[in-house]
Amino acid sequence: YVSTSLLSQVDASTGGKNGVNLEGAKNVLGCFKQPEFVICDPAMLSTLTEEEYYSGLAELIKTALIGNRKLFDLIENNQAGISRRDPGLLSMCISMAVNFKAAVVTEDEKETGLRRILNFGHTYGHAIEMYKSYRHGYAVAAGMELASGFSLSRGMITREEHNRITGLLNSYGLLPGHDIPADQITQLIMKDKKKSGNEVSFVFLNGIGNAVTEKVTVSEAAEFYSQYKPAN
Ligand code: GLY
Repeated sequence: YVSTSLLSQVDASTGGKNGVNLEGAKNVLGCFKQPEFVICDPAMLSTLTEEEYYSGLAELIKTALIGNRKLFDLIENNQAGISRRDPGLLSMCISMAVNFKAAVVTEDEKETGLRRILNFGHTYGHAIEMYKSYRHGYAVAAGMELASGFSLSRGMITREEHNRITGLLNSYGLLPGHDIPADQITQLIMKDKKKSGNEVSFVFLNGIGNAVTEKVTVSEAAEFYSQYKPAN
């Protein structure tokens, strides 16, 4: 792969996952096939549109949230450099993301356990992406806000951590509005390919930089969505 988007450089290019959308559901067909090599050149990112660049940034923030607190601090403390696409800074961030993801997929290539944490923000994110037709990263960012709120409601992160997460997503313009009616959010979550019976493997944060997966019922996830008050 010669990886030309930030989304690909920090996530999709590593791990060999290939997916195809079908009949309004995300990535329901796919396979695992590892590339022989991946080239991630941050200089290529200078040509991306703002929307595409920030969409990729959402997946970088996801990686920080699930596995690397130092990366989170770096993204939080260097917003000017991130916004002007500083190649040195991006190179460091991309390396941290690739190293983390490579370690995860080395342990669990076919997503039977650990790899599921990479889906943080995606249960709600895919629902929002299908309903609003947002670019993937924006929908995932909105999903991460919700998943962070869900983690807060279970006492797994503090209010201060939740505020840091939503503040960071907001400062990069990554929290577009969404208001999916209660009857439709249930249907959309049901389309999650990770669903098994009436349950989904939901990724929670147990502090910034640490993710855990727990089964929740579709109705519990839908109820949380409908009662959550977004930051925006
Ligand atoms: N993008 C999530 C994964 O590769 O598993």
